[in-house]
Amino acid sequence: MFTYEREFIRAQADAAGFWLEQASQIDWFHPPTIAMQPDSLGIERWFSDGVMNTCWLALDYHCEQGRGEHTALIYDSPFTSTKQTFTYLQLRDHVARVAGMLANLGVKKGDRVIIYMPMVPEAAMAMLACARLGAIHSVVFGGFAPNELAIRIEDAEPKVILTASCGLEINKIINYKPLVDRAILESRHKPNKVVVLQRKEQPCDIHPQRDVDWHQAIAKALPHACVPVLATDPLYILYTSGTTGKPKGVVRDNGGHAVALKYSMTAVYNQPRDGVFWAASDVGWVVGHSYIVYAPLIHGCTTLLYEGKPVKTPDPGAFWRVCAEHKVNVLFSAPTAFRAIKKEDPEGNYVQPYDLSALDTIFMAGERLDPATYDWVRDVTHKRVVDHWWQTETGWAIASNPLGIEELPTKPGSATQPMPGFHVEILDEQGKSVTSHVQGYVALKRPLPPGCLPTIWGDHERFESGYLNPFPGYYVSGDGGYRDEQGYLFIMGRMDDVINVAGHRLSTGEMEAILGEHSAVAECAVVGVHDELKGQLPLGLVVLKDGMNMDDELLEQELVARVRGSIGALACFKHAIVVKRLPKTRSGKILRRSIRQIADGEEVVIPSTIDDPTSLDELIAQLGSYADIPK
Ligand code: COA
Ligand code: AMP
Repeated sequence: MFTYEREFIRAQADAAGFWLEQASQIDWFHPPTIAMQPDSLGIERWFSDGVMNTCWLALDYHCEQGRGEHTALIYDSPFTSTKQTFTYLQLRDHVARVAGMLANLGVKKGDRVIIYMPMVPEAAMAMLACARLGAIHSVVFGGFAPNELAIRIEDAEPKVILTASCGLEINKIINYKPLVDRAILESRHKPNKVVVLQRKEQPCDIHPQRDVDWHQAIAKALPHACVPVLATDPLYILYTSGTTGKPKGVVRDNGGHAVALKYSMTAVYNQPRDGVFWAASDVGWVVGHSYIVYAPLIHGCTTLLYEGKPVKTPDPGAFWRVCAEHKVNVLFSAPTAFRAIKKEDPEGNYVQPYDLSALDTIFMAGERLDPATYDWVRDVTHKRVVDHWWQTETGWAIASNPLGIEELPTKPGSATQPMPGFHVEILDEQGKSVTSHVQGYVALKRPLPPGCLPTIWGDHERFESGYLNPFPGYYVSGDGGYRDEQGYLFIMGRMDDVINVAGHRLSTGEMEAILGEHSAVAECAVVGVHDELKGQLPLGLVVLKDGMNMDDELLEQELVARVRGSIGALACFKHAIVVKRLPKTRSGKILRRSIRQIADGEEVVIPSTIDDPTSLDELIAQLGSYADIPK
């Protein structure tokens, strides 16, 4: 039997033994004796009698082990022309002071802290400082508009918000502080304090009573020690898009998370401890949580925090420059980033000047890795490229080529095989397993392994109804896909109203709610249509109220501005088309899949439940050329 198969079967047959063994790879204050035990609600909880601290594992432990002089974090910012390194000792000392500052502001174990910051080292320090105190952080991606931030403030009820005066984008400065001020104004919950990191690129005004200057507060703070927490205590809440307008607060616990991430650094990434790991993402996303901050530091290697883009900072050689300069071993980003590079440098000329000999593997996730992008990256870099599939909810890869266990043959378009601990099945509408090559709902048989979410913050019912109840005994991922005769997994896209725009997960339901609020709109649908660069882009179709006489272009402009103002620029909502009616089933359900097929110029499969097939013909006549329009 091959090594991967052996490990996979062992994790299935003796899950308790397997995961307790993995748990022994991290430094507990009190090691767990219990592997998995369901809680009073019947949800699997890992290592429930273990006591630990995630910040200890990420920083102090390595200092205690005599590795304090090893580089923990490299900050590389082409936006500000800054390069900075922090050893484990230096990062530990910074983080201990940030924890002291938060404690001075009244933050204690279990309190929530929202972090709305650009890609600066202080963002990672803030996350680790919360972990140090046993406080629960919730990082909000800087591209979200005040309304989205306000929703998260109301839901998480933070005692303190940590922010910066500004973030940097290509050719523009985003002033964060007015966005935070507006969000607090809109939210029913008000934080006690807002700590502001003043950046020299654009300092901001400080609210005299409520706001605190980061550097002044740090100067008054004493280093704070690590607070012991239970493995099952929450480490963070990370909001992600669901099918309704309200984002879901995915809860991550401390113990299972640390064990799973430590395991993944070898089993998935095969990352050497003396090397450099670079997740080119943002701390606002799960990739940033797991693989910019926690996993590389728990593993004891060097992590790279990059404040820049794949292109235009200054050119499409940006990724290759960073890899060469910092001797990156593993690069992890979203396919869309490589498509952006390919668009500007199709021949791969910008790879040539750089010595990529340290680079072993390029990992991709966040959206389907299309075979054309896979081939291009492999051809221009001559590196191994691995597609792996995961979600905010799981926190680590459900399926990957398990490089640290055994390298399996690659099949372009497939995320390879399930990682040990995950039991992936493809189910039909009735919840029955289907045979190979048949597409269905991709579901995970419970219990889920360590690291996966135990609940949705403040709404356990939503966790059960959204993920567990559709197919009893399973967690339903929301993705559709199939397995081939060798068990290789092919993830083909979402089965629900979630779309993926430039590796960012967005809810079409939320966009529909915004369009529907316009006084001219009777009903609407938003679908994700194919885009060469960003994978998908949202397209809105609106039906006007009877008697409404509004210029289509003006309406489109207003709707585009509303989505941008409410969700943020990252939604990339650029098109809203007025149509006579929307195709529906006899029971009144909008046929979004058919709309998407029409907009993408694909062959339209006419559903048997359609109310009036001529509604599709009308739409084909109107949208027929949409697929050819440059977006
Ligand atoms: N703060 C504020 N605004 C932001 C932002 C942030 N952190 N990130 C993006 N935006 C804004 C952009 O400035 C842009 O605004 P505009 O409409 O005014 O131009 C808008 O949101 C859309 O941004 P984006 O989708 O990122 O498009 P882009 O053209 O600027 O860049 C890519 C395209 C492919 C280079 C970029 O999306 C990318 O690097 N993607 C990788 C995604 C990723 O890391 N995903 C995480 C999973 S691994
Ligand atoms: P997020 O929670 O933002 O990380 O988004 C998770 C979603 O992104 C998944 O449910 C998938 O729809 C998609 N996704 C992530 N990785 C992959 C992948 N390797 N292949 C296909 N889809 C992916």
